[in-house]
Amino acid sequence: INPGWPATLGPLRTQAGAVSLRPVKMRDAKAWSALRIRNQNTLLPWEPTGVGSWSERHQPSAWPPLFSILRSEAKRGTVLPFVIELDGDYVGQLTVGNIQRGAVRSAWIGYWVDASHVGQGIATAAVALGVDHCFGPVGLHRLDATVQPANVASQAVLTKIGFRREGLLERYMDVNRSWRDHILFALTAEEIGDGAAATLVRSGRASFH
Ligand code: ACO
Repeated sequence: INPGWPATLGPLRTQAGAVSLRPVKMRDAKAWSALRIRNQNTLLPWEPTGVGSWSERHQPSAWPPLFSILRSEAKRGTVLPFVIELDGDYVGQLTVGNIQRGAVRSAWIGYWVDASHVGQGIATAAVALGVDHCFGPVGLHRLDATVQPANVASQAVLTKIGFRREGLLERYMDVNRSWRDHILFALTAEEIGDGAAATLVRSGRASFH
């Protein structure tokens, strides 16, 4: 019922180091809390509005209930919650959500990377690993990604992987306390050739060893 989970993906080598994906763990509380609190200013403009202050929502004690939801959704096969590691250190997260089977076989993909490590190809490598996994072992056919027009870095990541812009979703999501327009990007399995990671390697942006 639940192909492709749990899984450890990579590594894919970038200029920053070795990028890999592994399932979230209960033991991630401290690392998650520290990175999320440190990155409030870079994450808040792009993330769904939450209840309570940023620091309250990201105390280490907030991780176990969130982890439990992610674990049970992952068991049901609707979410793939990954940590992005750089040389074995927790530097961000990549989540595949709303996995739908049946005739659409689609999901959305989302990600964030610690601000002290951006601009070195880590998100692009992580998304490539996630995309190849979704179109391979997970058996999906389509991935969506929604990005605010002002989020140029995230749009650059998606474009490098081969996601296409499909349109503008007006007032799509409650983000940072307002209904924000989002650009819908999408990719289907036919479009990735021999794989997103292989394409990055060919373009010189990453290597397998
Ligand atoms: N103008 C133009 N391009 C930019 C800018 C800018 N201001 N800032 C960054 N870029 C480009 C970089 O040049 C790079 O492209 P290049 O390789 O062609 O030069 C690209 O954006 C970034 O690529 P990576 O280095 O692979 O990505 P990075 O590891 O820096 O992570 C990310 C990007 C995930 C968007 C990070 O900045 C982040 O976590 N931001 C906050 C959270 C966020 O926005 N998450 C995405 C939400 S949308 C979604 O999940 C679908």
